[in-house]
Amino acid sequence: MTASEVPTARSVITVTRRLPPAVEARLTAMFDVRLNSTDVPLDAVALSRAMASSDAMITTLGDPLHAATLHAATLPGSSAVRTKLIAHFGVGYDNIDITVARELGITVTNTPGVLTDDTADLAMLLMLATARRAGEAERELRAGDWSGWHPTHLLGTRVSGKTLGIVGFGRIGRAVAARARDGFGMRVLAWSRSLTQPQANDAGVTRCATIEALLASSDFVSVHVPSTHHTRHLINGERLSRMRPGAFLINTSRGDVVDESALVAALRAGAIAGAGLDVFEGEPAVRPELLQLPNAVLLPHIGSATHETRTAMGMLAVDNLEAFFAGHEVPNRVA
Ligand code: DGY
Repeated sequence: MTASEVPTARSVITVTRRLPPAVEARLTAMFDVRLNSTDVPLDAVALSRAMASSDAMITTLGDPLHAATLHAATLPGSSAVRTKLIAHFGVGYDNIDITVARELGITVTNTPGVLTDDTADLAMLLMLATARRAGEAERELRAGDWSGWHPTHLLGTRVSGKTLGIVGFGRIGRAVAARARDGFGMRVLAWSRSLTQPQANDAGVTRCATIEALLASSDFVSVHVPSTHHTRHLINGERLSRMRPGAFLINTSRGDVVDESALVAALRAGAIAGAGLDVFEGEPAVRPELLQLPNAVLLPHIGSATHETRTAMGMLAVDNLEAFFAGHEVPNRVA
């Protein structure tokens, strides 16, 4: 949008879910905002309608903006959509058909960087919780089944000093590497399609030439790749079989990066020791077999869920809106 195209009246912004109060207050002061007071996700029809009647949207990962939904938002007799900007609240934007958005002239932005530390912290939490059996232990205590301290009670696996393999070495992967190395004295291996030797040297990690080599040499494997057609089921049955029998798999990225049915089979067979998952293939539905497995620690996609980060994500989305409607380049363009 050029400065001459900037709407003169206050632009209409639809926000698909409730946002932290400071973010909603800033938005309301600047725009004509349609908030979702019920916080119930919009279905495809409601999303198309909102796009057809708003100048911009703030969306979240639960809003499937697939090709059909985007096309359904076009104005009658035209191939244009009233919405000119989707300011996505999240770093991952796999719920949006970026190609179609681009074809329809819609700018898309995301919120990178501000959630790195909290998501890396959660990966560490899952590593510790799976290895030290924290989920099982807490369930036992709450059920009133704790019979007292004894030397062989709930023995887990030490984390400190072990080898961590990081799959995907972007911002979050690097932040996990730093925590593991500096905080837990771990040896860190890394693999990604683009990781170069100088980058690995700078980050103080050992670069693996193949994902298979990383899987075979790690006590813990933590996954940090986006969901794309290249990464769907990147961790499949064959790759799970390359992991060490005592190893743990941690996933805080996207559910479809791991073949969950293969993971269930590996956990059941004891082919790996445990899994810590914050994301699921069909979320919010969770595969019932996973719920039955004591060696899986399962969290409801809370990687970035702190007051600080969710507010920062919202503020970044608003920065993108503000820049766009002022006729400037948006800071976090993905399309
Ligand atoms: C993201 O931003 O993509 C996370 O999964 C939600 O914080």
